[in-house]
Amino acid sequence: MIQERKRILSGVQPSGKLHLGNYFGAIKQHIALQDEAECLYFIADYHALTTVQDAKQLSENVQEVALSYLALGLDPGKAVFFRQSDVPEVTELTWILSTVTNMGLLERAVSYKEKVEKGIEASVGLFTYPMLMASDILIYRSHLVPVGEDQVQHLEMTRDMAGKFNRAYGHIFPLPEARLVKHGAKVPGIDGQKMSKSYGNTIEIFADGKPLRKTVMSIVTDSTPVEAPKDPERCNVFALYSLFANEQEKAELAGRYRAGGMGYGAAKEMLFEKIQAYFAPARQRRAQLAQDSSHVEEILRKGAQRARAEAQKTMALVREAVGMKAKSVV
Ligand code: ADP
Ligand code: TRP
Repeated sequence: MIQERKRILSGVQPSGKLHLGNYFGAIKQHIALQDEAECLYFIADYHALTTVQDAKQLSENVQEVALSYLALGLDPGKAVFFRQSDVPEVTELTWILSTVTNMGLLERAVSYKEKVEKGIEASVGLFTYPMLMASDILIYRSHLVPVGEDQVQHLEMTRDMAGKFNRAYGHIFPLPEARLVKHGAKVPGIDGQKMSKSYGNTIEIFADGKPLRKTVMSIVTDSTPVEAPKDPERCNVFALYSLFANEQEKAELAGRYRAGGMGYGAAKEMLFEKIQAYFAPARQRRAQLAQDSSHVEEILRKGAQRARAEAQKTMALVREAVGMKAKSVV
């Protein structure tokens, strides 16, 4: 159990349809944590501008994340759920943090290099992305940040910035810690590589019926003939099935693999059924939510009000600490 007063925060980029990797690697844990401590979750639309530069696409993606999180169980009565850009103070803090951030620190960022290698434009925004992320974390004076392995370096940078700020101006920011998601194993995509939008190998959480079936049937397997024994530990279908099945079901399927006589098609069929059934209630909630976009908007607006009040408190302290007026008076 996490201590009551610990504040948990995480952000998710609205960059397209969410997939099983996102669910088992992040969303599921985010939702579970809402029962353990005070949680703030936001849709990182300022960050998404580094890759999505189409207004319609961005707002659709934001809606996609909002609907998905709510349908999958995020309870706005428990967690504060909001859109990053509804708290513009975060950009002000980004500037202030930039003055205590060493260029060398940003230059060492692995994710920046990886993104540029993938062909994303090397904009100043992409380069300073970790500063905006630090600002997201520090403006709510968060303690724990549940993230995947790929974000750990950004957390180290955040601690560096917070430490430098605190040493210069007095202790305002707690030093946040990454909380690596449990069982943080990489969910394989249909081709066996890490499931990722950028590899085009995803199984979408809300795919259903025929399209879902088609995707599951296209999971790459080896060419062991039906009669021959198969190794469950080396099969993508089995790895994905394991995410949904209980211990007994896993052992049963593993037994059938090892015995031979079962083709991969049969295992895929079982996986398809599992995915359909697992997300059925969420799919239903999502369809209901999608019919009432003003309700979703209202949830995000209320979340932003709560988040913004916190952010404004922090900014009053920060402005005062650096020698500005606590509130900008015009
Ligand atoms: P993508 O690789 O599809 O662009 P993101 O980088 O937006 O996905 O992922 C958001 C979060 O979802 C990551 O920080 C990570 O925690 C989780 N995640 C994404 N893909 C996987 C995966 N294949 N296995 C486990 N976790 C994943
Ligand atoms: N960079 C994170 C990702 O790509 C998203 C993010 C933005 C975030 N701001 C954050 C995560 C603050 C945790 C805390 O997944």
